Amino acid sequence: RTLRIGLIPGDGIGREVIPAGRRILEALPASLGLKFSFVDLDAGFDTFKRTGAALPEQTVETLKKECDGALFGAVSSPITATKGYSSPIVALRKKLDLYANVRPVKSVAPTPCFPDPIDLVIVRENTEDLYVKEEKTYDGPNGKVAEAIKRISESASTRIATIAGEIALRRQRVRETTGETSRKSMVTVTHKSNVMSQSDGLFRTTARKALEQAKFKDAGVVIDDQIVDSMAYKLFREPSFYDVIVAPNLYGDILSDAAAALVGSLGLVPSANVGDGFAIGEPCHGSAPDIEGKGIANPIATLRSVALMLEFMNQEEAAASIYKAVDANLVEGKLLTPDMGGKAKTEEVVNDIIKRL
Ligand code: NAI
Ligand code: MG
Repeated sequence: RTLRIGLIPGDGIGREVIPAGRRILEALPASLGLKFSFVDLDAGFDTFKRTGAALPEQTVETLKKECDGALFGAVSSPITATKGYSSPIVALRKKLDLYANVRPVKSVAPTPCFPDPIDLVIVRENTEDLYVKEEKTYDGPNGKVAEAIKRISESASTRIATIAGEIALRRQRVRETTGETSRKSMVTVTHKSNVMSQSDGLFRTTARKALEQAKFKDAGVVIDDQIVDSMAYKLFREPSFYDVIVAPNLYGDILSDAAAALVGSLGLVPSANVGDGFAIGEPCHGSAPDIEGKGIANPIATLRSVALMLEFMNQEEAAASIYKAVDANLVEGKLLTPDMGGKAKTEEVVNDIIKRL
């Protein structure tokens, strides 16, 4: 069967890195038996200026009806509130119910700061918490007061913890095939239930309960939980401690951006927006107007996002081959883009990685 992939480059360097994502899929070894077809889809600020909609209905419909997976580049968001404009990736997550944001953070070589390999994944809940955006401002007795709702539900907490458990199982399978069996699987639940005893308390107990399902228990997945502030400390002191971290929306947002700093350039860090049966791979960086059009954007965040998308399409072998080729390029360190201290162009890096496939 041919897998159909929606390509949404968006703005700026999104248009330079998404074609690289397509090229790597087309270059996968024939022995994997995978075929791909592609459909180009519009979204972003330029689309908004042209059509009045940042996320055309056609894009959503095509993804829903035709596509097995998708890649999203980046969009430029106007700095001032612009009438009629809202972020297309936020809307897409809602419309396709992509309730999990998945961010792997992995080092390829030891550094003086972190001699032990960093290989963790942050799984962030994407639909609720403070980001339900139910805010209000009113006049209090001593001036203005603003309030925001923090909503945590049992159903959303259960499904995010379940997908975190499934990711832990998949990582375990991958380690078994690569012989790294000494490392145990663990999911760490992030919360602040010592203070927010109801909302974060519900997240903690519900997530722990979901992770006690037999399929995780029988595979030996250890359940741990940690208060978010001490987790931030430990994440930077001893990142190799972590395997899978599951977090409510706000803590997950902050921890996942911060954790990207553990492994260097923004141009390296991938993500995926995941729902039941559909995933969109998305590099973590933005549209980078400062380097747009120069052909020097680092394509690696996108290539790793392609691999992550493939993992959620159950194409683990294809994903592994991309990760390996990317790591080999970084370990050799001869063909790097300027953000990594090199002089190579986007295209040269992609060519090198394809050669290693
Ligand atoms: P940015 O991620 O676009 O750029 C930050 C810095 O990192 C820049 O110096 C840029 O050149 C560099 N950089 C980012 N990706 C790179 C890559 N692949 N290779 C080499 N260097 C890279 O963040 P910034 O500048 O804050 O935002 C620019 C625009 O992007 C804004 O309009 C913002 O709203 C949007 N943005 C969109 C995101 C998305 O679509 N998910 C995420 C973050 C920002
Ligand atoms: Mg963020």
